[in-house]
Amino acid sequence: MNQVLRYIDNQLHMESVALDVVAEQVGTPFYCYSKADIQQRVSACKAAFKVLDATIHYAVKANCNLSILRLMAAAGLGADVVSDGELERALVAGIPAEKIIFSGVGKRKDEMLAALNAGIAQFNLESIPELEALIALCESRNKTAGVSLRINPDVDGATHRHITTGVKGSKFGIPMEQLHHALRRIGESEYLQLRGLAVHIGSQIVTAEPYRRVCERLCGWVTDLRAAGHVIEHLDLGGGFGIDYGDGDYLDFESVAQVMQEALQGMDNLHIAIEPGRSLVGNAGVLVSEVIYRKEADPLPFLILDAGMNDLMRPALYQASHPIQPLLASEKGQEQVNVVGPICESTDFFHKAITLPEIAQGERVAMLQAGAYGAVMASSYNSRAIIPEVMIDEERFEMIRRRITNKNLLEFELVM
Ligand code: LLP
Repeated sequence: MNQVLRYIDNQLHMESVALDVVAEQVGTPFYCYSKADIQQRVSACKAAFKVLDATIHYAVKANCNLSILRLMAAAGLGADVVSDGELERALVAGIPAEKIIFSGVGKRKDEMLAALNAGIAQFNLESIPELEALIALCESRNKTAGVSLRINPDVDGATHRHITTGVKGSKFGIPMEQLHHALRRIGESEYLQLRGLAVHIGSQIVTAEPYRRVCERLCGWVTDLRAAGHVIEHLDLGGGFGIDYGDGDYLDFESVAQVMQEALQGMDNLHIAIEPGRSLVGNAGVLVSEVIYRKEADPLPFLILDAGMNDLMRPALYQASHPIQPLLASEKGQEQVNVVGPICESTDFFHKAITLPEIAQGERVAMLQAGAYGAVMASSYNSRAIIPEVMIDEERFEMIRRRITNKNLLEFELVM
């Protein structure tokens, strides 16, 4: 269990608040985050990456709630954004434009314009057509832009196939054979300022080795490019550091920073940036849900939750497993059960044949490590409301996003 979750008088607490108390007030299901946990992760990340003097750009996609972005801003972090929506949120939360990197494989012109107008630090470009579009935009508005080229280093992060991004054939990054063309075009334009190279090899990577391989390859490329007269001052190494989803596998900040530092030794005048998302917020969040029904069945009973795959997509999409804890510590025995949501889909399954303390109908449970790629990936499938988010700060808690109700959803529909 993570550090900020513990049973006090048999009740599961996050920091000093009993989650059942929050549930009574907010209603289930809801996401709940620990402010202290996020702050601790951010401090640990900053401390570990000091060896590289790296700047940290929080990957907003992991959890874009304004209150969380404000914590990142207060800690001095920058942001990695992939849409005008994320850009707007980062700015509203107080992350300065000059600390914002715009990533993504399909940036629209209007989005790039918004970023140019805001004066962001850098665009990580992923294709020649995108580069041409940015040049044209800059020319027409007489604006300059800092750019890095995201390359596909062909290194396997050894993670789930849906979240590996750095191998040949993936849609991400500029293919190596087009790199020189891209660099030439940047050199020809007086509006683009080359900063360097960027990579991101995947997410939920649990060993440091892939990062070593990427850094070694980057060293070679940077040396060659510099020899050819290009000024490369910046390396963006992406995110992807894995967290412990209960199987004991994760990548700690120190190991990965150390490996990067070793592999990059001897490279002078290189500014390093990283873009962690999951590793800063994943551990801090739980999804609290109620067992609506306990359905006896052969071979195993089903615990049917009021949270479904629309609230937490990761199990359905990546066969991810989020550990479950009852909010009430049970003195009863253990049993094997299936844990499912209420959605009309067979993939709406949280756990198959999991051993849990006996949990009765009407009891509540917390699904752990749900702070990253949880709330942000929720949908209203089956016309379900978008569930609220709550932040806990020691003995205080506050709703940081209200429930988006069925009534709210209906307001956007026009009947023809
Ligand atoms: N930088 C770039 C360019 C990215 O594409 C990503 C994540 C990150 C940074 C942050 O990666 P992180 O540190 O969070 O691993 N929905 C999936 C994860 C998708 C990650 C996409 N890119 C999941 O729930 O596991």
